[in-house]
Amino acid sequence: MDIETVFPELEVIDDDTLRSGVVASWTTAAEDNGIGVTELERFPWFPPAQHELGMAADDVLLVDHVRDVTDCAVGLAEPLTQRDYVPNIDMDTVIAGALVHDVSKLYEFVGMDRTEIGRLLGHPYFGVSVTARADLPVEMAHIVLSHTPRTNVEPATLEAELIRRADEAAATAIHANVLSDLRDT
Ligand SMILES: [Fe+2]
Repeated sequence: MDIETVFPELEVIDDDTLRSGVVASWTTAAEDNGIGVTELERFPWFPPAQHELGMAADDVLLVDHVRDVTDCAVGLAEPLTQRDYVPNIDMDTVIAGALVHDVSKLYEFVGMDRTEIGRLLGHPYFGVSVTARADLPVEMAHIVLSHTPRTNVEPATLEAELIRRADEAAATAIHANVLSDLRDT
């Protein structure tokens, strides 16, 4: 599977371990679930939220969302890297972490329904095993677990925090397309 075509942002990751680990994570997740490139590109963003918002499976796609989160995270990080009072932000970690943050969804949903993994583990716990199998450093598993308040793992690094905020902004933007008042979420 040509993951680099699905996620062109991969080419700006300098660190070979991170870049190949993100590719391996998506490739393994797709193969484990019998998902080809076409199915991956049509995979829904987040079925429970789409059900709640009255959105069809193809109204919001996972690949688009992952790319949005990557762009948003980079957008948050770049201005801060100019400041002396901000610690070094590892842009490879920001990009790789954003690209892999939702990889567990391929195990959690089939169509718009939950799988056993989705039902018994919830989002995004299974992503830890996916990143581990891809030999990604534990920082990537931390980003996966801390990107959402659905777990009790809070971001411990600035990179993880930026990805959590980027995911929140990208998800809120989807909600705003349906709701006239975001307090109704
Ligand atoms: Fe996400």
